[in-house]
Amino acid sequence: MIPAELIKRKRDGLSLPREDLKQFIQDYVNGTVTDYQMAALLMAIYFNGMTDDELFSLVEIMLNSGERMDFSHLDSYVADKHSTGGVGDKVSIILGPLLAAAGLAIPMISGRSLGHTGGTLDKLETIPGFQVDVSLAEFKRLVETVGIAMIGQTSEICPADKKMYALRDVTGTVESIPLICGSIMSKKIAEGIRGLVLDVKVGNGAFMKNYHDAQRLGNMLQRVGRAFDVTTDVVYTSMNQPLGRTAGLWCEVNEAIEALKGDGPEDLLTVTFELGARLLMQAGKGNNRDEAIDLQKELIRSGKAYETFLNMVAAQHGRPDEVERHASLHQPRHKTAVQANRSGTITKMDTYHIGLATVELGSGRKKTTDRLDPTAGIEFLRKIGDEVQTGETLFYCFNSDQRKLQSALRILEETVTIEDSPANHRLILSKA
Ligand code: URA
Repeated sequence: MIPAELIKRKRDGLSLPREDLKQFIQDYVNGTVTDYQMAALLMAIYFNGMTDDELFSLVEIMLNSGERMDFSHLDSYVADKHSTGGVGDKVSIILGPLLAAAGLAIPMISGRSLGHTGGTLDKLETIPGFQVDVSLAEFKRLVETVGIAMIGQTSEICPADKKMYALRDVTGTVESIPLICGSIMSKKIAEGIRGLVLDVKVGNGAFMKNYHDAQRLGNMLQRVGRAFDVTTDVVYTSMNQPLGRTAGLWCEVNEAIEALKGDGPEDLLTVTFELGARLLMQAGKGNNRDEAIDLQKELIRSGKAYETFLNMVAAQHGRPDEVERHASLHQPRHKTAVQANRSGTITKMDTYHIGLATVELGSGRKKTTDRLDPTAGIEFLRKIGDEVQTGETLFYCFNSDQRKLQSALRILEETVTIEDSPANHRLILSKA
């Protein structure tokens, strides 16, 4: 296999032979194929897509680039949740412990920030001491004993995705349906799960801007799930505004903790419970959606979900004592208000640019080596449908680097549309 020849095939719209694709990816993982060659192939896939046969090969090759977990000896239902990427999406940090508290086993492999979207791993790493790089044996032990572990791709699990994901982030090749599908499903299948629920985000802050493309992705994810014997539910949710009260790093963990303690915002809890209900029903816990939602509310009310979160933090070398003083941790050095420039109703939020502003503040990377700022983020005081007066504060924007804060503020200009007409926003779009 000559790398440039394979790249040219995809560039010219021809299909990729399985063995050649396998060699190319293996050589990329071991360093023989370079970043610039992989970036060229990813861009060719971005433009020309993939057939189902190519996609299934891609998933299998990425999956087999590392080890595959086996939890078949556990009595618990082994399952996971994943999102296609959004702004302010801290659902995994709430739902993982919540489902473990319900008796499911959750071996969760998460990603870092990607493009304008936030990454669960980057958020978790702001918990003092919390380790996301654990060995496979340790990961297994944690899932068996605590009921949940949240880790990153290691060199043992899906190393191909680890490298390709980081490269896509900085080469403009994120928004490709087969690449997103391959990345998500290879990681999830490698976890050894029986069930999966996917939150496919749709809207101006999602990789899929419209429902049609989101459905193509959702259907593709389900086809892969079927092919690899993982029961896969898909829920389509709106990303036409950030989810919850905050977007950034520690501020999102703080919000997730508040939600686990019973003070979560309504939109965040609605998405969390809808996804959770899918997995609980798959696991045979709750006869219907309402019962499955009530079970989750009860696990929060009783404190069991938060207790499981603290157990997970301690088991992954985090500091539960620091978590307990969550509201005062990682205080930003700088904070600025963004105000309404007219009175009226908020009808739109440009979530893509809001996401870019969080990257600029220090919550995401512009190049793979960038260091993140745990204090960085945005707090949303007002969202779509709210009536506001001229001069009223819409967001607080914060971090610990004044220069970056100023450039984030420039990105945020005009991200909120205020009109005299009423707003129209639906959170849960439909379910598959
Ligand atoms: N989440 C992933 O794990 N991979 C993607 O490509 C997008 C979202």
